[in-house]
Amino acid sequence: MRVEVVPAGAFGEAAAAAFLELCARRGAQPLVGLATGNTPTAMYQALAGRGLPGVRAFAVDEYVGPREHACSNRAYFRSYWEPLPGAGVVEQFDPGAADLDQECERVAAAVPAGGGLDLVVLGIGLNGHLAFNEPGSARDCPARVVELHRESRTAAARCWGAAAPRQGMTLGLRELLGAKAVLLLANGEAKAAIVARALQGEVGPECPASWLQEHPDLTVVLDEAAAGRYLR
Ligand code: PGA
Repeated sequence: MRVEVVPAGAFGEAAAAAFLELCARRGAQPLVGLATGNTPTAMYQALAGRGLPGVRAFAVDEYVGPREHACSNRAYFRSYWEPLPGAGVVEQFDPGAADLDQECERVAAAVPAGGGLDLVVLGIGLNGHLAFNEPGSARDCPARVVELHRESRTAAARCWGAAAPRQGMTLGLRELLGAKAVLLLANGEAKAAIVARALQGEVGPECPASWLQEHPDLTVVLDEAAAGRYLR
């Protein structure tokens, strides 16, 4: 595990530099899983000034809600990823699909068909979730429809308001932990406790992000606030 702690103002640049370095290590057209949310926004903004290498991008999750909703992850990628120089289309879950389980199976099959994730960029939920793999998720769970836990719905409500979805579609820990490299990002004091729990606490399903301790190629970029309880 490589952990980099940087001042808050340098977080986006440090994350972007780590992302580009990890992509470069993976050869041509790596398959990259991408997170949405507050955490990676500064990284995407920093990448705008640098441009992207050729990557094939995959969304790690989506809300089960109206497909074109302004708070959907699809809309997030439209704002922060698609305008980047060199960005291609992001493969995404379609919450408008007639059969959501089948849609998750399609995605679960597309990842290994594409050679598996070369790199996945992840944030961490306040409850330790990775993408929408909530506490209690098994280590080898596949892409699937999930019930969002209260913390995730509360976080979603900051954008969605009372319409916050109850369900999500997510790559499973099987696909995420199977990535050849993982870039975990966290910033802000609110994440300090869960970062320490995930990286230095007991490994197990109560905190899905703790499984990352066992990953052979994990890079973590934290700002100083998020690293406040991480023992260096
Ligand atoms: P956030 O979400 O980046 O909006 O804090 C992180 C996550 O839930 O994975």
